[in-house]
Order: sequence, then structure tokens, then C-alpha cells
Amino acid sequence: MREGDVLTVRGPRNAFPLVREPSYLFVAGGIGITALLPMVQQATRWGARWRLNYLGRSRDSLPFLDELCRYGGNVSVRTDDVHGPVDPVEIVTQAGQGTAVYFCGPPPLLEPTRRALREHSPTARLYSERFSAPPVRNGKPFTIRLARSKRAVQVAADESALAALRRELPGIAYSCQQGFCGTCRVTVLSGEVEHRDNILRPSQRQHTMLPCLSRGHTTLELDL
Ligand code: FES
Repeated sequence: MREGDVLTVRGPRNAFPLVREPSYLFVAGGIGITALLPMVQQATRWGARWRLNYLGRSRDSLPFLDELCRYGGNVSVRTDDVHGPVDPVEIVTQAGQGTAVYFCGPPPLLEPTRRALREHSPTARLYSERFSAPPVRNGKPFTIRLARSKRAVQVAADESALAALRRELPGIAYSCQQGFCGTCRVTVLSGEVEHRDNILRPSQRQHTMLPCLSRGHTTLELDL
């Protein structure tokens, strides 16, 4: 922060809210159950139809199995050691017309699930949460100039600007790495930004960017 800046403190931001729907298919991979268990409880309170597929390597690796017992046949536990590798098609075909599918699990399972839903249940809506930065799509390499140290940082086509900046500035502030918390926002002194986030207002885009998602069409000079 600079002198004169105003600090606004808000409550926690929920990037994965449960939208009220008549039916849900929950898909939890391992520790992903921590995000979905409260949703299961809420869906039950609302009287919605729901099923939970709980996936993992073995039952030993799955927390909250005792809590889930009370939901009986609504919960399917599927482990690699007993059932073999997960088939996302088998899971998503449980999603009926217009079902809301909530996914929280490892990224390697998310993309096949998304594809399977598109092909087999196109009317279902997918809501997902990931624990890591999304892969960079259609990225091109570009250069960042650091105004304070005058150093140059090369950003490769398949890495985020934030990842490249962290090599040079390990203490740079960031949190979600997915473009919703705003923690990584930096001032752009020159250059043309390719904004890939959905949270900055047009006025903010004129002089700032979120390097966890956004990139440079040209060399960028940042106030870092
Ligand atoms: S780290 Fe959250 S918006 Fe960039």
C-alpha cells in the first residue's frame, strides 16, 4: 500500500457457493469432501434431491465416512483399490436433466468430468473448485520489466505471469491464483494487458492487472 491508499476489509469471499436447485450430483475427490459436506447438509435441509459420489484411493484415505453414514443410499463411496480407476462417464450419467453438479477434487479428474458432462448430460451445470492454479490456455511468451529493480522477467507460454514473478520476487503477495481474491493485483506502468479475470472493473483495468491470470500482449512494465 502507498500513502493515501484506502484499505477496505471485507468478510470472507465464497468462490464456491451452493446455488439453490431442485437436484444435485456432488462429486468429491478425497479431501474435496470438506467443501461438499456442508453442501450435502444444506441440500438435505432444503429437501432437494441429491447424490454424492465420494472418490479416493482407499477407505482409509477418506475422512468423514462416519458422518456420511446417516445419508444411506444417497452416498456412493468408490475407491481405487476396490473398484479400479474412476470412469467419469459412469459418474456423470447419474446427473439427470438440469441437475447441478458440484465437483471438488483433483484437477486431473476435473477435465474428464467436464468433458463427460458435455457429452452425456449437456443440460447439467457444473460448479467446481480447484486447489491449484488453472493451466494456462493459449498463452504466448512475453516479458515483464520490474520498474523498481529494472530487471526483466520472461514469462513462458505455459506459465502465469505470477509464477514467473515469484521466481524474481518470492515475497510477492498472492492467494487464490484463480483471479477472484484480488490479492495479486499490481499497477501497470506501460504495455498492453490481456485481461483474463472477471473481477476488475473497466476503470481498474486501465492501470492494474491480476498476474495470476492476465498476461501481456506486449512487454509490460509493472510497479514492482
Ligand atoms: S491471487 Fe487471487 S486474484 Fe490473483
